[in-house]
Amino acid sequence: MNRVYIKTYGCQMNERDSEAVAAMLRAKGYALVDNEFDADTVLLNTCSVRDQAEQKAIGKAGHLAKRKRKDPNFILGIMGCMAQNRGDSLVDRLPDLDLIVGTQKFHRVPEHLDKMIATLQGQGPRPDTIIDLSEEVGSQNTIKSHSSEKKQITAFVSIMQGCNMHCSYCIVPKTRGAERARPMEAIVEEIEELASSGTREVTLLGQIVNQYGLREFPTINKKSPFVQLIEKVHEIDGIERIRFTSPHPVGFRNDLIECYGRLPKLCEYLHFPMQSGSNRILKTMRRPYTIERFRKIIEKIRAVRPDVYISTDVIVGFPDETKDDFEKTRHHFEEIGFDMAYIFKYSVRPGTTAESLGDPISKEVKEERNQILLGILSKRSLKRNEELVGTVEEVLFEGPAKKGENMFLGRTRGNRVVLVKASPRLIGQFAKVRFERATASTLFGELVLEGVEDIAVQAIT
Ligand code: 5AD
Ligand code: SF4
Repeated sequence: MNRVYIKTYGCQMNERDSEAVAAMLRAKGYALVDNEFDADTVLLNTCSVRDQAEQKAIGKAGHLAKRKRKDPNFILGIMGCMAQNRGDSLVDRLPDLDLIVGTQKFHRVPEHLDKMIATLQGQGPRPDTIIDLSEEVGSQNTIKSHSSEKKQITAFVSIMQGCNMHCSYCIVPKTRGAERARPMEAIVEEIEELASSGTREVTLLGQIVNQYGLREFPTINKKSPFVQLIEKVHEIDGIERIRFTSPHPVGFRNDLIECYGRLPKLCEYLHFPMQSGSNRILKTMRRPYTIERFRKIIEKIRAVRPDVYISTDVIVGFPDETKDDFEKTRHHFEEIGFDMAYIFKYSVRPGTTAESLGDPISKEVKEERNQILLGILSKRSLKRNEELVGTVEEVLFEGPAKKGENMFLGRTRGNRVVLVKASPRLIGQFAKVRFERATASTLFGELVLEGVEDIAVQAIT
């Protein structure tokens, strides 16, 4: 039996795509392993958002190619965004690659792998690299399989593919193609199945989730298709928590904001990319909103859900970001008070409209700006976590912690990471936890006995 290891770079979309490929391979009789050393086939699912991510994957592929030269039956493939972005030019650099599979062809991986194995087993000359990068109508409907091997307490569900925005720095519209929504019924069916096999929390994934189905489905009673979808997911028994990522400020309307006031399963957590606090830079980034509008949306959400936790994406060192522009970003970043943030140093992406602006901001300045925002973030995050010490919240336990005997990891509805000494029986369960200690990233706590499900009580005794 061929053993496959999939290594994933990049975002949650990529994680989800890898998981779906793994499930499809399992269904065809492949064994999935969790490290490259036990594998007969290694597939790298890649990211192109920044140059560094591409270089990492290329480095890894180069390293694995050495193994291939010693063991001709070893199979090496590159899938996803970098495959799409660099196309067959990857073979020029890495002639040993067996598979190059684009973002609309993940579902073809099993058949390509079958073919490659069959050809390698025949005694003929080394087969050509299989390159499959074309667009495929309906490919957004193919990312639907989930692992049947282990229960997924929390699951990602891809609701759409692609992006029609034209942010000047971003390669995603090139790598993922135009926006395409999956039908609502198919998404609901997938989540119902997940719920019946034990999933309690879902995260709806898309490049811009609040744009979901705008062209395909009607607005009903002033509710966008995305809001209609959230309502449908909300009705599914067994699903207790709903999250989504990522929305765009454009089209973040009152119908969505109101959901935070009326749909209790919608968690008080929002990832809301700001990118910059300077209107001048937002304009060159081709982000069609002002920082004032962005803040207004947050204000409205906080009015309906005051305890909401908000995270964001910010790019520092975009071409021509002056001291004054950055000061605006710093100011708004601090005033808004993000609980989590991903801060990216600008990286030129070939083929984007910002490419022609070059990369005039030095590495040092980018790093300095990065550190300033990280400093603000860790202060705010620590403060918010410290405020929780002494309080009790419901935590969904996902699995063992990376470190510590009998330590288990869970999350609050606000997406704060919680570590608790407990029993493995808690995995997949909700339990009340009293927080005892906090760092900027983690809450440490103790299970609360009173009113806890029997299972949690057993966990302590
Ligand atoms: N350079 C740096 N960061 C980028 N992002 C997207 N493109 C680039 C780039 N060229 C960031 C944005 C986006 C996140 C996923 O990655 O902040 O929201
Ligand atoms: Fe890229 Fe902008 Fe689309 Fe997000 S919205 S994927 S940043 S082009």
